[in-house]
Amino acid sequence: KPLVFSGVQPTGNLHLGNYLGAIRRFVALQEEMDCIYCVVDLHSLTAQLVHRDLKEQTRSIAAAYLAAGIDADKHIVFNQSAVPGHAELAWIFNCVARIGWMNRMTQFKDKAGKDRENASLGLLAYPSLMAADILLYRATHVPVGDDQKQHLELTRDIAMKFNLDFGDNIRAAGTGTDITVGDQPVHAYFPMTEPMISGATTRVMSLRDGTKKMSKSDPSDLSRINLTDDADDISRKIKKAKTDPEALPSELDGLEGRPEASNLVGIYAALSDRTKEDVLAEYGGQQFSAFKPALTELAVTVLAPINAEMRKLEADPGHIDAVLKKGSERAGEIAARTMSDVKDIIGLL
Ligand code: TYM
Repeated sequence: KPLVFSGVQPTGNLHLGNYLGAIRRFVALQEEMDCIYCVVDLHSLTAQLVHRDLKEQTRSIAAAYLAAGIDADKHIVFNQSAVPGHAELAWIFNCVARIGWMNRMTQFKDKAGKDRENASLGLLAYPSLMAADILLYRATHVPVGDDQKQHLELTRDIAMKFNLDFGDNIRAAGTGTDITVGDQPVHAYFPMTEPMISGATTRVMSLRDGTKKMSKSDPSDLSRINLTDDADDISRKIKKAKTDPEALPSELDGLEGRPEASNLVGIYAALSDRTKEDVLAEYGGQQFSAFKPALTELAVTVLAPINAEMRKLEADPGHIDAVLKKGSERAGEIAARTMSDVKDIIGLL
């Protein structure tokens, strides 16, 4: 049965990239599928163990999920550390995955920088915990932005190696299903999870530099629109957003070599649930001096209600904690069944 899992780290302010690349898509998927949305607090320890305000940040991501429209009664919203299976399965996956696989992760290389010997072991093992998040629920679909693609390929590699290494035990435990991967028949306990990376905003770029990803860690706040920004902030940032001197093209191929223009058109398209082609058909030939105010108005219309609802929710931390607790209990039941199967399969007494 199709099942969606995804997560967001409680580090820093959520920005438009997180919203358009991930959270807005989480909301859309809940109409068609069962969904589990997690605040991955354990992942946020890999960069820095001691966080100021980690609890507030965790609640803030949960508030963003709810404010954006995720229905925590129909679906599961919880925080990772409240379900022990994540760390437990991650340990087993640490023994399935190879160091070479981890060393090849571009995000590890970027985050560890030059002084790799001094990066935390957790940062290296990060993708193994991410695979555990997904496979603990045997989730089949994972909506994420483009930057998570390599981690999801690794998740499939871990699932595949586990299935192949323990095929006989999976059968003996009376669990798993026959699938084919390529041409190969496999008796699989873990599914081959499908990444869901689609739409105009799988990679929202910095407003200051169309070749850089919009990110929480960019020192310039002008580079991103935060979900907590008010109408004035949004207006100022879009006004200052880097562009080129040309008018907007009428067709998609006219955006080639124009990363800033392409980014703003993509943002407009995603915020209005339209395609980039459609947006260009309307705005082609117009200058940024006309397009930017339209984009500002659209962004404020979409983000202001979310912003207001987030503030309302954050004013009642007890309510958020209760939502997370209920979600953790429901997630914990599924997780416990998987852990019991996994222990049986690998022979832990
Ligand atoms: P995180 O917290 O960095 O980002 C959360 C989500 O936002 C997406 N995203 C973007 N999308 C488009 N444009 C951008 N500029 C942009 N920046 C961020 C990310 O791709 C992500 O979908 N490793 C994950 C968290 C995680 C996870 C998981 C995700 C842990 N376990 C299991 C899915 C399934 C991360 O650091 O996301």
